[in-house]
Amino acid sequence: MTSTMKSALITGAARGIGLATAKTLLDRGWRVALLDRDEAELTRAVTELGDGMPIVADVSDPAQIDDAWDQVSQHFGQLDALVNNAGIADFGPISDTTLDRWRLVMETNLDGPFLMVQAFTSMLARDGGGAVVNVTSISGLRASTLRVAYGTSKAALAHLTLQQAAELGELGIRVNAVAPGPVDTKLAMAVHTPDIRAAYHDAIPLNRYGHETEIANVIAFLVSDEASYVTGQIVAADGGFGATGIGLPSLRS
Ligand SMILES: NC(=O)c1ccc[n+]([C@@H]2O[C@H](COP(=O)([O-])OP(=O)(O)OC[C@H]3O[C@@H](n4cnc5c(N)ncnc54)[C@H](O)[C@@H]3O)[C@@H](O)[C@H]2O)c1
Repeated sequence: MTSTMKSALITGAARGIGLATAKTLLDRGWRVALLDRDEAELTRAVTELGDGMPIVADVSDPAQIDDAWDQVSQHFGQLDALVNNAGIADFGPISDTTLDRWRLVMETNLDGPFLMVQAFTSMLARDGGGAVVNVTSISGLRASTLRVAYGTSKAALAHLTLQQAAELGELGIRVNAVAPGPVDTKLAMAVHTPDIRAAYHDAIPLNRYGHETEIANVIAFLVSDEASYVTGQIVAADGGFGATGIGLPSLRS
């Protein structure tokens, strides 16, 4: 099936930043495939949207990615954008981070985007190229306690973004990353205690959490033709968190 409408595949799209990105791209006239491993939540999301193609798959499983590839190929015939948004957070001290916990985080946050880009490169390269956006985190740009697995997975994803940009540019595929600051989603609510929330409000120049649509808008820009000469960039959408130095809260008070 061919169409002049652009098509996007978004992982982890059943809720949060992924769902907001799906809404934003649909609003801008894209055809969107929403991939998630949570079938119930995905069905609810697509029903509410009244649009979009649901794909139930786990991004850490190559066989399920192959099935997803078949579905995208059948429905869209080609692909203009891949948003690797699916991610999990697991906060804990190094001493409590068992190898199983470590691997669980790496499987989704790092293996997933590696496998997805590998699988979809030829489809993205068709018709002159496409765009990939990997969703990293400020936790991958600055280290902090309790994030040994999560922060390391996101820092590795930031570098994977550069590797992919370096190698896939000649195929016309642009690869960038968005590094969100704290955003009020189920993921954040599960790991951000009231103390953490207060500290973030204090440390972020804009003094607030971000909204899902504020991240979605940056992703939508990076996959659009307006970003046609932008590749290999890690764009922080973090209320200025990354711009601040150490000790600012005490200096301010
Ligand atoms: N919320 C924040 O504060 C924040 C900050 C920085 C970065 N991020 C990143 O943004 C992305 C989206 O986060 P969110 O807050 O919207 O999370 P969320 O938990 O609300 O949504 C994540 C979605 O991904 C799906 N998912 C998880 N593992 C998957 C897998 N292996 N295969 C397929 N689907 C899978 C989940 O089912 C869920 O629907 C993540 O990569 C996260 O690390 C979030």
